[in-house]
Amino acid sequence: MLRTIRGRKMLEDESRDIEKIRKRWDEHADRFDKWYQTFKGAVENHMDWELLKRHLPQNRDAKILDAAGGTGRITLPLAKMGYSVTLCDISPKMLNVARRKLLREGVLDKAEILECDVCKLRFADESFDFVLCWDGPSEASKELIRVTKKGGKISVYLMNKCGVAISEFHENPDSSLALLRSKSNYVVHHGEKSMAVSVEEARELFEKTGIQVIEIYAVCGMLDLLSIPKKVQESRSWDEKFFKQVTEMLLRLSEEPSAKGLSRHLVLYGERI
Ligand SMILES: C[S@@+](CC[C@H](N)C(=O)[O-])C[C@H]1O[C@@H](n2cnc3c(N)ncnc32)[C@H](O)[C@@H]1O
Repeated sequence: MLRTIRGRKMLEDESRDIEKIRKRWDEHADRFDKWYQTFKGAVENHMDWELLKRHLPQNRDAKILDAAGGTGRITLPLAKMGYSVTLCDISPKMLNVARRKLLREGVLDKAEILECDVCKLRFADESFDFVLCWDGPSEASKELIRVTKKGGKISVYLMNKCGVAISEFHENPDSSLALLRSKSNYVVHHGEKSMAVSVEEARELFEKTGIQVIEIYAVCGMLDLLSIPKKVQESRSWDEKFFKQVTEMLLRLSEEPSAKGLSRHLVLYGERI
């Protein structure tokens, strides 16, 4: 369930409840990767990677920060590709899962793992060539930009205002309508404050803070638009031809301006200037 935030006091109270957020993700740690074994999870992981590969640094010596990187879904393949990755997250249990996976795959030495709040990063200005923050707190963007080198790249996940309102409508029409009526760009979702923006607002926001936006893609939740039954979405085995058709369809839609308002999230790629 989502709701928009009105007063500033409420915004601060909700956003800084770090302990609540840590506990929620600690409890989720053993289940997080399992979701990516379902058809829906595998499609979304494939999409994330296809888009990310277009923007990764050519140079494998590049230093990458995976902020709010959780169980290392992105860190592990990056480390296997040879990049030096710093993985940080607020949840020690999510990080333990990541540590075990990196150790098992023999690439623990390629990653530095830190428990920290991404809104208070301990790195010097311009420390990284590429900074990712997928599904972390939206208020982290100032810090993420600070630690990105000039000429380096940044990638952030943002909630998509129309897409969120559409996908939550069946559960709570009042709060979906409140979101679209409101001028606020913040929603509270599972107790965490997130920014919800349109493609245009995302571009404006980042361009104001010294980021040249390269591309904004529509990701997450688009399977529902293809009317794929829940049973298929949750299945753990599938037809490869169908998987390829679905992912091609979604990759094309992720770049299609007339469809971009409909996804749950946007993923923005930009260059620090
Ligand atoms: C949906 S998971 C995403 C994990 C990873 N980025 C991925 O895409 O697989 C969100 C992660 O954000 C982390 N997180 C939330 N707030 C945070 C904060 N203030 N600082 C660091 N990590 C945070 C959570 O602990 C959780 O691991």
